[in-house]
Amino acid sequence: MLIKIAPSILSARFEMLGDEVRTVEAAGADQVHIDVMDGHFVPNISMGPVVVEALRRTTRLPLDVHLMITDPGRYLEAFVKAGAHHVTFHTEVTQDPVALASWLRERRVGAGLALNPDTPVERVLDYLPHFDTILVMTVRPGFGGQAFMAECLDKVRSVRETAVALGRASIDIMVDGGVDPRTALLSKRAGANVFVAGNSVFASGDAAKAVRELRNSLKEQ
Ligand code: DX5
Ligand code: ZN
Repeated sequence: MLIKIAPSILSARFEMLGDEVRTVEAAGADQVHIDVMDGHFVPNISMGPVVVEALRRTTRLPLDVHLMITDPGRYLEAFVKAGAHHVTFHTEVTQDPVALASWLRERRVGAGLALNPDTPVERVLDYLPHFDTILVMTVRPGFGGQAFMAECLDKVRSVRETAVALGRASIDIMVDGGVDPRTALLSKRAGANVFVAGNSVFASGDAAKAVRELRNSLKEQ
């Protein structure tokens, strides 16, 4: 499994966003996680395509956009045009996830399907063949800095087992919410390989060190 570290800029200092992203890039981050919130699917409002476009000019890292919005299909094109490399949307609000995934993949943009802690894992398992990534939320989405919900790890295990059974062992399984060196290792043992981390990186006082510590912790078995 290829381990990928995805710092979430939701916890970065926005007055110096470019510097923050360059810091984690230099420290070895693999992609930049961009949390898009609409004040409807989640009780918070964050950022949109203009921020993706600005980051496109700031970093060479792939831009991993996480749409926490009620009508993802309506906005895919705007995020792809802005330079997203990978777009994840939620199963709770998507009628036809396969159509959206196909639309993205035809444009060589990675497709991810996310599920909330209260959503049964069956809501994503049937769709595995059509997606590059499954995002298992390990907090209720909306805010950074919440505690990791270890009970979500059973879903990570189910997704990994199903992917292996389907011959899709190389699918990315992403965990998002409360990820730090300790909970990342628990998630990896359950089958995750992409680790989104907001607070533990950008609120740590030394984002570069935090990225390195996260990576080192994942070297353990
Ligand atoms: C939560 C977002 C996360 C968030 C994670 O709604 O989807 O990506 O930024 O932040 P931490 O790592 O602080 O829990
Ligand atoms: Zn996220």
